[in-house]
Amino acid sequence: MKTLKEYALITEKRLNEIIPVLPENSFEPENMPELLSRSMRYSLLAGGKRLRPAMLLAACEMLGGDIQLALDFACAIEMIHTYSLIHDDLPGMDDDDMRRGRPTNHVVFGVGQAILAGDGLLNMAYEIMLKTAMNAGKDADKCISAASEIARGAGVTGMIAGQCADLYQEGREDGSEAMLRFIHEGKTMAMFVGAMRAGARLAGADQKSLDAITEYARAFGLLFQASDDVLDIIADPALFGHSVGKDVRDGKLTAVSILSLEGAKARVEALLKEALDAIRGFGEEAEFFVRLADTVAHRDH
Ligand code: IPE
Ligand code: IPE
Ligand code: MG
Ligand code: MG
Ligand code: MG
Repeated sequence: MKTLKEYALITEKRLNEIIPVLPENSFEPENMPELLSRSMRYSLLAGGKRLRPAMLLAACEMLGGDIQLALDFACAIEMIHTYSLIHDDLPGMDDDDMRRGRPTNHVVFGVGQAILAGDGLLNMAYEIMLKTAMNAGKDADKCISAASEIARGAGVTGMIAGQCADLYQEGREDGSEAMLRFIHEGKTMAMFVGAMRAGARLAGADQKSLDAITEYARAFGLLFQASDDVLDIIADPALFGHSVGKDVRDGKLTAVSILSLEGAKARVEALLKEALDAIRGFGEEAEFFVRLADTVAHRDH
């Protein structure tokens, strides 16, 4: 298996090909407008951590699959994730000015174009997964089940459900642990579960492996969002590349608002243990995932 950096580089190289640089201000029939490609590339190629594609590729490789077949699915999940960030930052959602260390998409391109950049990334993600499945010959079934895992993670019982609850809960006084869990499972965990299960499907994994990586991805996803909530309080904005202190100002329901800062940090440690326990059975093969969970749990940006 490779390192996070290596998986990230492979993904970025391919993303760079998928969304081409076009002649300035061109609106050519049959081609996407250059403005759209520019705004999509602006957010997509802005140096995210690439956790979801890396985890998809690593799960596929760990379970004996071909990462060449998996590469476009890794790109697709990163495109869906980036669309969710562009929309999450819009004035009608979290209204954020900085993302990935640069001004947010709508600050640069305007709200309307930012909505379209998100829509474009989302649609292209499905186009590329379908195209790969159509050309995959005997591997078509694996591709279709991978696409379906990603669709479930990103969809109305996954990421979109969590975003809906996150916005509904904003500024309300009736926050509960159950609602916190619903928000975190939806907006964040579901995409990690989708990524790893897609990688496992592409490898043709058996039920036992699928169950183990799902358990890891669930604990990892919850850990990731709890630590994101902690970072919103304690991170250095320059390093984090995103606003700090805004969850409190917006009256968001977060791990910190429910559990306190110390309680949220303790939750991260408990979830780290759960994640590591879930993949113990893979032994040294799971080194990538052991390291990743440990790094994310103890990150400061
Ligand atoms: C940010 O995700 C959104 C959350 C789920 C908290 P990441 O922290 O993975 O963002 P990038 O992709 O590295 O920018
Ligand atoms: C957003 O959660 C998760 C998604 C974009 C689906 P947050 O709103 O907490 O993410 P950040 O803090 O803006 O990255
Ligand atoms: Mg949000
Ligand atoms: Mg946000
Ligand atoms: Mg956050």
